Amino acid sequence: MDGAAQATDTPISALSAADLFRRELSPSLDAARRKTLGQFMTPEAVARLLASRFREMPSEVRLLDAGAGMGALTAAFVAEAVTRPEPPRSITVTCFEVDEAMALILAQTLANCADECAAHGIKFQHEVVQDDYILRSAEPLLSAAARFNCAILNPPYGKIRSNSGWRAALRSQGIETVNLYTAFVALALQQLEPGGQLVAITPRSFCNGSYYEPFRRLLLGASSLEALHVFESRRTAFKEDEVLQENLVFHVRRGGTQNGVLLSTDLSDAREVPFGEIVRPGDAHAFIRLPTGGATAADLIQSLPCNLADLGLTVSTGRVVDFRAKEHLRRDPGPDTVPLIYPGHFDGGEIRWPREAFKKHNALADCPETANLMVPGGTYVLTKRFTAKEERRRVVASVYRGERAGFENHLNYFHERGAGLPEVLADGLARYLNSEAVDTYFRIFSGHTQVNATDLRNLHYPTRAQLEALARAEDVEAAIAGF
Ligand SMILES: C[S@@+](CC[C@H](N)C(=O)[O-])C[C@H]1O[C@@H](n2cnc3c(N)ncnc32)[C@H](O)[C@@H]1O
Repeated sequence: MDGAAQATDTPISALSAADLFRRELSPSLDAARRKTLGQFMTPEAVARLLASRFREMPSEVRLLDAGAGMGALTAAFVAEAVTRPEPPRSITVTCFEVDEAMALILAQTLANCADECAAHGIKFQHEVVQDDYILRSAEPLLSAAARFNCAILNPPYGKIRSNSGWRAALRSQGIETVNLYTAFVALALQQLEPGGQLVAITPRSFCNGSYYEPFRRLLLGASSLEALHVFESRRTAFKEDEVLQENLVFHVRRGGTQNGVLLSTDLSDAREVPFGEIVRPGDAHAFIRLPTGGATAADLIQSLPCNLADLGLTVSTGRVVDFRAKEHLRRDPGPDTVPLIYPGHFDGGEIRWPREAFKKHNALADCPETANLMVPGGTYVLTKRFTAKEERRRVVASVYRGERAGFENHLNYFHERGAGLPEVLADGLARYLNSEAVDTYFRIFSGHTQVNATDLRNLHYPTRAQLEALARAEDVEAAIAGF
């Protein structure tokens, strides 16, 4: 027998076969449907990582895989189970998958799983529920709960509108949440028996922000957090699908006792950290902090004494929405215009204005219709709301000094009761916002590249005097560390 024939004769694992389906079929899936249903399949290595997180395996596994796609996670669970020193006696899996085309491939993966289990003397039973997991979960039979002792999830991701059937179904189960992925996790948690384990890969956006606070409370209230794995380098988890969202794998146990949390990243080994470092005792918003490489910087920023109100400052979003003010936009300044400032005018912490051959507009007509779009002359700190992924920093600040102006809507600006800031304070504030320490803090707390006015309001700041000292400091990072 030659080498090639031998290779085709060797049975491949259910997981490798599922990964082949993923690589072969994902590119040919209908792009719009793929996006709506969040059909981004888990690559083999990541699926293995999830399955390896289950501490012990019950001897009779009752597994839930909701949004099962092509079945990679169930296959990874089986691959893990068969290599455990004490493998389970039986695995009964329930897979929910709404998409018919996916469900067909899933059936094949499950057949492969059955073969693999049979080869290891494990009884395998499966059920595919080709239906909407959220709506189905609100039906009396399923909502009776506590059916599973293990759950493995890579749920779809997408907003849930407040008037949708999903929202009503979730509400009937006592769940208030705004995204499909948190809905899937919340439901799966309810369907676990006490002591049951759930491992999921999700975006990390739920860790902070007020929208996700009810979800965080539900998660932390109903279960104990056993392990967290953070993908620090963007793109690692789903690089073939170009999903930029930063991902997180978490392992929770329903109703367990909260001990230390095993924390690992794709760049560092696992270590146990006290739970209090992840969720600060008494934190009013129950933020989930991910103290990876930047723990010290985050601590530093969090220990700073002021919020914006203490500084007497406010941050607002630029008022000129250019497509709404089209007739008032001017390419170049003239006698009857004021400067119009875009992110494109940022230049190393200062504003370069006007810009020649600028793709946007340099000026705004000075007329009664535009009066309320302008700020009085003065010094303002501006930050970009959106940063390009290749930009080195999340928060990018520049100082505007000059006459009355319009700030475009892709910017946020710091002001003092609608007017400008003292020069030295503005310089110090811009240097603070552009610091490495603030950048690290944002990376830990925020999974996206947007920097909203709310994010800037929630940031901690040094005192006014300290900010003024920063304007003159030789080493900004050292100065912040000394505050
Ligand atoms: C992010 S993919 C993950 C697939 C698979 N678990 C994996 O890890 O490879 C999410 C899957 O959920 C399915 N899905 C989306 N909305 C659903 C819903 N409401 N109910 C059930 N399945 C859904 C999608 O079709 C897709 O296959």
